[in-house]
Amino acid sequence: MPNVRLTDHLDPAYLRQALENDVRSGLTSRPKWLPPKWFYDAAGSDLFTRITRLPEYYPTRRELSILRAHATDVAVRSGADTLVELGSGTSEKTVLLLDALADRGLRAYLPVDVDAVTLGEAAERVAARYPGIEVHAVCADFERHLGLLPRTGRRMVAFLGGTIGNLEPAPREVFLKGLRDTLDPGDSLLLGADLVKDTGRLVAAYDDPAGVTAEFNRNVLRVINRELRADFDPDAFEHVARYDEGDDWIEMRLRATRAMRAHVADLGLDVAFAAGEEMRTEISAKFRPEPLAAELEAAGFTPAELYTDPAGDFALLLAMA
Ligand code: AVJ
Repeated sequence: MPNVRLTDHLDPAYLRQALENDVRSGLTSRPKWLPPKWFYDAAGSDLFTRITRLPEYYPTRRELSILRAHATDVAVRSGADTLVELGSGTSEKTVLLLDALADRGLRAYLPVDVDAVTLGEAAERVAARYPGIEVHAVCADFERHLGLLPRTGRRMVAFLGGTIGNLEPAPREVFLKGLRDTLDPGDSLLLGADLVKDTGRLVAAYDDPAGVTAEFNRNVLRVINRELRADFDPDAFEHVARYDEGDDWIEMRLRATRAMRAHVADLGLDVAFAAGEEMRTEISAKFRPEPLAAELEAAGFTPAELYTDPAGDFALLLAMA
């Protein structure tokens, strides 16, 4: 495609080092933990796509419905001619934004993702659909490489899906401030955030009866087995999803169903699990609109509009830099 460019900030050595560091520090901590970033190999990405289609997992459908209703308003109010999408993944939602922006002088689309394959596919699809715009795919880790993103055009940064919820409050603040620092006045942020709601519905969304989320959760062990030559028995771990009312977040954990040891050959690491021991693999924070807007203000943004679905399940927050 003539209008596609790819910039890669992630060499394999960087990713490998990051995985090694994360796994070593997580598995030697008490309690043990693993970061959600490593769920998403090809199998994990497929499992996540299946999650988005589960009747219990409402966020993706709600966010799509908000975009269907308000993408034009977002495009008008942002005034953006350049869409930067963090964690672009597959760009089903992006198309709704791009369609609205394309009617108003869109010039460029910059998808940013850690996975070069996903990124390349998304870039080609968008380039084919919008032949007049420049597509510049950037392979990068948005927690580390925000400063390297191109600074051209009037930009709107879209961070959708509720992925902001994977960050605990302190790193979230660092991330939002870092993002604000890379933007210029007139640029904007469109942030997707899942909202606090009935605990039963929250837990059901992360503990589906079909067991898809359980497989997604266990997939992190398969990734570690393959990449770091470890010998975890994923089937010896149970999926746990709990809502923490104090922190307003879902916690996913893997619970050892028996006492066991695992060896991570590439790290020279032996890990012991007690029967019933739980290891945290993800937090997915849920937000209340006003405090979230206040966090954006504290990071230097000016909240402009909060869009939500009729049920009030999910929110898109547009904030100006
Ligand atoms: C992709 C981070 C938005 O937190 O809801 C879905 C990941 N984990 N089911 C979320 C996820 C379990 C998802 N995000």
